[in-house]
Amino acid sequence: MSRVALVTGGSRGIGAAISIALKNAGYKVAANYAGNDEKAQAFKEETGIPVYKWDVSNYQSCVDGIAKVEADLGPIEVLVNNAGITRDAMFHKMTPEQWGEVINTNLTGLFNMTHPVWTGMRDRSFGRVINISSINGQKGQMGQANYSAAKAGDLGFTKALSQEGAAKGITVNAICPGYIGTEMVRAIPEKVLNERIIPQIPVGRLGEPEEIARCVVFLASDDAGFITGSTISANGGQFFV
Ligand code: CAA
Repeated sequence: MSRVALVTGGSRGIGAAISIALKNAGYKVAANYAGNDEKAQAFKEETGIPVYKWDVSNYQSCVDGIAKVEADLGPIEVLVNNAGITRDAMFHKMTPEQWGEVINTNLTGLFNMTHPVWTGMRDRSFGRVINISSINGQKGQMGQANYSAAKAGDLGFTKALSQEGAAKGITVNAICPGYIGTEMVRAIPEKVLNERIIPQIPVGRLGEPEEIARCVVFLASDDAGFITGSTISANGGQFFV
């Protein structure tokens, strides 16, 4: 029987590629999204993947949204915490709101989403939690004190939780994408992207969302059961840990 996978931020960018790759690999997939109804509906029509709207920064919304997905598709066995936002600003210009929005979505969102599925995964002795962190959580990035802090926090969360899940058949891993050609990266000022970022990527190009999705499909598989607490860096050689 096919497993059920839930992808947060699963209707756009890297998340859309992950949802599609998991569907093509035989999973029953649900894609969560927060804001863009039009894009989410278009994604649903194109792919046949059901979409569910809630904000991962709100715990009760996650509890309610997960209950709806589980009622429709069955218990969630694979959770991909992909939803993330940027509010880039040099630190001297960063507002408490820009700090708070990014921490609440990109870090607290992992608690909010994982906590409601964790007991079920423990009870069924199987689970896969895959957290999409970032190269900028590993190396830090000017203009992203908020984002880098949250994404580094995601790695600590991954390592701690993997130790709790290990004896229960649950693996918890992270992927750190480098600069991938999504709307989020294309929003970077063109001059900065072309002159400061792309020249630092040894393979000489932005990554493709599908290159991250393939890592997710591997980590979700039964074959990856001995890999937990680890981080896959997919960044074109830009940064080695
Ligand atoms: N690397 C090196 N230098 C950078 C830089 C970067 N990533 N970003 C900005 N700079 C430099 C600029 O070139 C500029 O230098 P000069 O004065 O010598 O030209 C200086 O820093 C100030 O930059 P701005 O003039 O752009 O200042 P600003 O206040 O208008 O904007 C900023 C600052 C919001 C940080 C803007 O530069 C920016 O958005 N930078 C990109 C930050 C970034 O890399 N974000 C990653 C987004 S993608 C993502 O987050 C996905 C992921 O996981 C990888």
